[in-house]
Amino acid sequence: MKIDLALTPYELEKKDLAGKSVVVIDALRATTTMTVAFENGARAFIPVGTVEEARELVAKNPDYLLAGERRAKPLEGFHLGNSPRDYRPDKIRGKTIVMTTTNGTRALVSARGGAEVFIGSFLNLGALCERLMEAGRDALIACSGEKDLFCLEDTVCGGAIVERLERTGHSIIKTDAAYAAKILYEHCEGNVYEMLCSCEWGTYLEGLGLGKDVRICAQVDSSKVVPVYREGKIFLDR
Ligand code: MLT
Repeated sequence: MKIDLALTPYELEKKDLAGKSVVVIDALRATTTMTVAFENGARAFIPVGTVEEARELVAKNPDYLLAGERRAKPLEGFHLGNSPRDYRPDKIRGKTIVMTTTNGTRALVSARGGAEVFIGSFLNLGALCERLMEAGRDALIACSGEKDLFCLEDTVCGGAIVERLERTGHSIIKTDAAYAAKILYEHCEGNVYEMLCSCEWGTYLEGLGLGKDVRICAQVDSSKVVPVYREGKIFLDR
């Protein structure tokens, strides 16, 4: 199995996704929040690129919930922001959620050409790696980054996937980007929370009083759910 990694959505747009398993990561916070939402009974997410698109879709489907953020702040008139703590079972059980975030939903939309697209975070690392092994395809890890630029937390999470896959003993061929991500992960292995607190976006979230979210994003292997993105929707297929 060959493992590649796109450090930013811009790089992702240059990659050939055909026939590959693609994992989209926005560790702080979009893909973590989705994972928590599915743990709490959400039915599906529909990721969209813009606030306008999200509003229009919910106007046509009043049962849907409107969710998202810009610069980590909730949007006017939206039912939910992007904090995993917003996604309580009483609010979201059985609901379809239209979501727009600054980077995460954009990366998802760009990942659509993959044979399968999975939602990854530190929370579902083990379950995700099992799913990748089961699929047996070459894999591309897509980091959401920050406004088209590199961000540490997604790359480290991608490196954790590479490290786990190698640990299975299967033959893994890594591109240089996947190798570099693994080296970064090994540097902070055992202290993911500290890395999340000290990276740029984590520091920003802490400054907004969202430190509890950062702590949730660091809960390695706390979830067994592996959401899939297929035909425009994210859902659990098993
Ligand atoms: C994003 O998609 O850019 C993030 O999830 C931002 C956030 O922390 O809300």
